[in-house]
Amino acid sequence: MTKDTKVDRRNFLKGAIASVMAVIGVGFGIPAIPYVVGPAIKKSDDQTWIPLGSTAKIEIGQPTLFKFKIKIQTGWIVDEQEISAYIITNDGREFVAMSNVCTHLGCRVRWIAEQEKYFCPCHNGVFDKEGNVEAGPPPHPLNRYELKVENDQLFIKGG
Ligand code: FES
Repeated sequence: MTKDTKVDRRNFLKGAIASVMAVIGVGFGIPAIPYVVGPAIKKSDDQTWIPLGSTAKIEIGQPTLFKFKIKIQTGWIVDEQEISAYIITNDGREFVAMSNVCTHLGCRVRWIAEQEKYFCPCHNGVFDKEGNVEAGPPPHPLNRYELKVENDQLFIKGG
């Protein structure tokens, strides 16, 4: 055997090992891509209907504050967050859910029944019963949530 033949055999073995490793890498690597990258690119539109309770809890014409929890997924991290919303009805049949987060800088607004307005304590933002801006710096009305009623039970969309 010449030196060239040994080198060729050595190179052949190196190439064969590299090929086997590449096949193993592709075999394990490609199926792992969705597992590794999936949570990071997953859209957060898989919202669910969260039960709030009976419609009987809401006095006609008076916004009632409900609290509920939603799960927020950021990449691989799932966090639970408590959300509050005012539910209002003017006839006992149609219901509206409004966020209690001020649209200026995110402080919590409060319903003051005597004045029939929501007030934001941070910069004196004022909203009417429908959530429209009446005074102060908030740039737009209070945000609304999707809401449905089934068998006199309220469900809010979150997730
Ligand atoms: S945060 Fe509500 S008025 Fe500024």
